[in-house]
Amino acid sequence: MESQNRSSFTGKLGFVLAAAGSAVGLGNIWRFPYLAAKYGGGMFLLTYIILAVTFGFSLMVAEVAIGRKTGKSPIDAFQALDRRFTWVGWLAAIIPTIILPYYSAIGGWVIKYMVGFITGQASTMANDSFFGDYIGMTVEPIVWFLVFIGITAVVVMCGVEKGVEKVSKFMMPILVVLILIIALYTIFAMDGAVDGVIYYIKPDFSHFSIMTVVAAMGQLFYSMSLAMGIMITFGSYMKKEISIEGSTHQIEIFDTGVAFLAGLMIIPAVFAFSGGDESALGKGPGLMFITLPKIFDAMPGGDIIGAAFFIMVLFAALTSAISLMETIVSIFQDKLNMKRIPACLTVLGISLVLGIATCLGYSAWSSFTIIGMQLLDFFDFISNNILMPITALATAIFVGYVLKPKAIIEEAECEGNRLKGKKLFTVMIKYIAPIFIVLILISSILDFFGIVKI
Ligand code: PHE
Repeated sequence: MESQNRSSFTGKLGFVLAAAGSAVGLGNIWRFPYLAAKYGGGMFLLTYIILAVTFGFSLMVAEVAIGRKTGKSPIDAFQALDRRFTWVGWLAAIIPTIILPYYSAIGGWVIKYMVGFITGQASTMANDSFFGDYIGMTVEPIVWFLVFIGITAVVVMCGVEKGVEKVSKFMMPILVVLILIIALYTIFAMDGAVDGVIYYIKPDFSHFSIMTVVAAMGQLFYSMSLAMGIMITFGSYMKKEISIEGSTHQIEIFDTGVAFLAGLMIIPAVFAFSGGDESALGKGPGLMFITLPKIFDAMPGGDIIGAAFFIMVLFAALTSAISLMETIVSIFQDKLNMKRIPACLTVLGISLVLGIATCLGYSAWSSFTIIGMQLLDFFDFISNNILMPITALATAIFVGYVLKPKAIIEEAECEGNRLKGKKLFTVMIKYIAPIFIVLILISSILDFFGIVKI
């Protein structure tokens, strides 16, 4: 994934795996279930899937095609196509810089739990107050955060290339199997879990609000690593004979599939443990860390399954964090003419400051909030609900009216490939996506400033 001497993926599998490695991460396992739980269960799921196959599909095709057409990283790609849009590339670059630090803070939580299970502390971690007490500590969460970001930085410094790809191929299927085992265990072995499955799968219109769409859209960008230049970068490594449509579908199905299963693993469990109390679903970011240890503790062999599970999650999180850091580093290299190691160290420095602040946001600085939000929530919100929609909007307008959809379609159809979803793509990019994103942006800003509680 070097940007100076642009390497290319060996084939379709290489591209799909690298993109899927970036896409599948904490977003699927940690973020999706808590959002689905909070924003309407089945209604959220339905909204998400509809957005993924229309909006997500079109945006991903556009980004990959821009990358492949120009063979450049995001800022240069926009600049090469139309100078007036260079700022979109810059905006795209800021987003991973905001996400990486708090992503790594959560990565640190994952390491803590992994170590906990390996050292046989399942029952301590199953305690309701464990998670809150842990993140409320001043030093330990910072230490695990440092370990996580340290591993990420070392991998990026060494160059990502083959290793990550190979390990992904091996770890990802295991992760899926483990999630399935845990979900089936909960549903069949625990009282009340079936109600949770119904809440999760059956759309109930009374649970719908505009925030369901806002949250689903933000999650879609996040989960598919869209609207921040990552797919442009990956597209630039893709060979011409590979089908953009085919690979996009595969990534989409894989990413959504893992998110769906993660929800199936967590939401019914919350129902089972709370005796069907829906308010237990509003717990937010801590959901995965509070609910899963309880299941593991109740499960025969839970120590081992818990340890294996958190190892896999750690891995999924690392591959995503690596793609985040790699993107920022390649931009620093290209734009500031830095060498790889100094660029890595600079990115690491920025991430340390923001990441440590994020950790302290739950302990020493917990009284410090920005518009009522803790730092982690604030970084998450500002990147997902504000900056990513702006980037996506600019990309859609750019592709729809400046570059024109035809250019993307031609790129997707070169060398005998086909883009069956041409019409869908054109209509989405030109009309539906821009209108939709503007509406979403307005509602999220109103919600953000507390002007309207949606
Ligand atoms: N898509 C990743 C996830 O679901 C997170 C991520 C976002 C990774 C943006 C890279 C870029 O966890």
